[in-house]
Amino acid sequence: MEDLRKKRKKEHIKYFLELEKHLNRNVFDDVTIIHNCLSEINPKEIDISTNLQNIKLRSPIIINAMTGGFYGAKIINKNLARIAKELDIAMAVGSQKIALDNPENIPSFSIVRKENPDGIIFANLSSEATVDDALKAIDMIEADAIQIHLNMPQEIIMSEGRTNFANTIDNIKELLHNINVPVIIKEVGFGVAAEDAQKLVDCGANIIDIGGAGGTNFICIENLRQTKSPYYNLEHWGIPTAASLVEVVKQVGDKADVISSGGLKTGLDVVKSLALGANATAFAGTFLYILMKKGPDVLKKHILKMEREIKYTMAMAGAKNIAEIRQRPLIVEGRTYNWLKQRGFYK
Ligand SMILES: Cc1cc2nc3c(=O)[nH]c(=O)nc-3n(C[C@H](O)[C@H](O)[C@H](O)COP(=O)(O)O)c2cc1C
Repeated sequence: MEDLRKKRKKEHIKYFLELEKHLNRNVFDDVTIIHNCLSEINPKEIDISTNLQNIKLRSPIIINAMTGGFYGAKIINKNLARIAKELDIAMAVGSQKIALDNPENIPSFSIVRKENPDGIIFANLSSEATVDDALKAIDMIEADAIQIHLNMPQEIIMSEGRTNFANTIDNIKELLHNINVPVIIKEVGFGVAAEDAQKLVDCGANIIDIGGAGGTNFICIENLRQTKSPYYNLEHWGIPTAASLVEVVKQVGDKADVISSGGLKTGLDVVKSLALGANATAFAGTFLYILMKKGPDVLKKHILKMEREIKYTMAMAGAKNIAEIRQRPLIVEGRTYNWLKQRGFYK
C-alpha cells in the first residue's frame, strides 16, 4: 500500500509532465477586460494584496497543492517553499495522507515550514479525512489553513482508487465545525458548480478553490498510468474554469472567498479572475512544469514577471487595487457566455 502510494505520487508528476507540454489553450480566452484609455494609474502604486478570510496575502498568486511523500517530492517542496518565502506568497503542500499513515514521510512535508518559518502555508487532505487527521496534518507543518480536496473523477478512474463517497458532505461539515484554522474546500481540475458551492456554504464553508477544467487533467493522468483499459472517452469531463468561477462567485461570492484555479498560466489570467470576482488565484501545473524543466530560478523570475503583468494589466484597465478591478467592465464571449446564459447567470 505504502509503496503503491509512493509510486503513484511519482507517476502523477511523470505523466503530468508528459501532458503539460500539449496544453496551449487559455482558460480565459472568452474573457476580455475593457481597456481604459484614460487610466491615470501608476503601475508602481498598484496594491495587489488580498485576503482569504482572516489570512492576509501580499499577492493573489498561490502555489497550489502538488506533492509530498517521497524523496523527489521533498526536493520539489523545498524549492517551492524557498520561492514562496523569497516572494512572500502562500503555498499549499500535497495530500499529507501518506505522512499520516507513515511518519517516515513527514520530512517531505515539514521541509516547507522549515524553509519558510513565517510564511503562509496550507495543509492538504481529502474530503474523507477525519478531524483528527486534519488536526495532525495542520500540526505537521504548522499550517495557517487546510485545503480539503474533492477529486471523485480521479479516484474512480484510478484502478486502486476509492469508489465509496458516501457521507462526503457530512464529513466536510464535521471538518468545518471542528478545525480552528480556515478551511479551503478545493476541486482538483473538474470545477465546482453553483449548486454545489451553495451546499458547501450551507455546510459552513467560507473559502472555495474552484479548481476548474482546462489545466491539469487527472483523468488523462490516470489514463496514462493504466494503459490496459484507459477511459479516453471521459477526458473532457468537468466544468471549464471561467464558467465555474462565475457560477461560484455569482452564487456564493457574498458569503465565501473564491480562489480561481485550473489551467491558469499568466498574470492576465490572474487579473481576469479578480475582475470576475475571485479573491485569489492558484497555480499548480504551470509552476511545476517550469520548476522541473527549467529550475527554481526561472520559476521565481516567472512569478515576478507575472506580478508585473498583473500590475500593468490593472494599470491599463484603470484599477489601483482588487476592489477596483472588480468594478471594471468586461466582456464574456463564446462558449463561456453560452454556458453562463444557459445556467441562468447571464441574460
Ligand atoms: C503532480 C500534481 C499533484 C497534485 N496533487 C494534489 C494533491 O495532493 N492534493 C490536491 O488537493 N491537489 C493536488 N493537485 C491538484 C492541484 O492542486 C490543482 O488543483 C490542479 O492541478 C489544477 O490546477 P492547475 O491546472 O494549475 O494544475 C496536484 C496537481 C499536480 C499537477
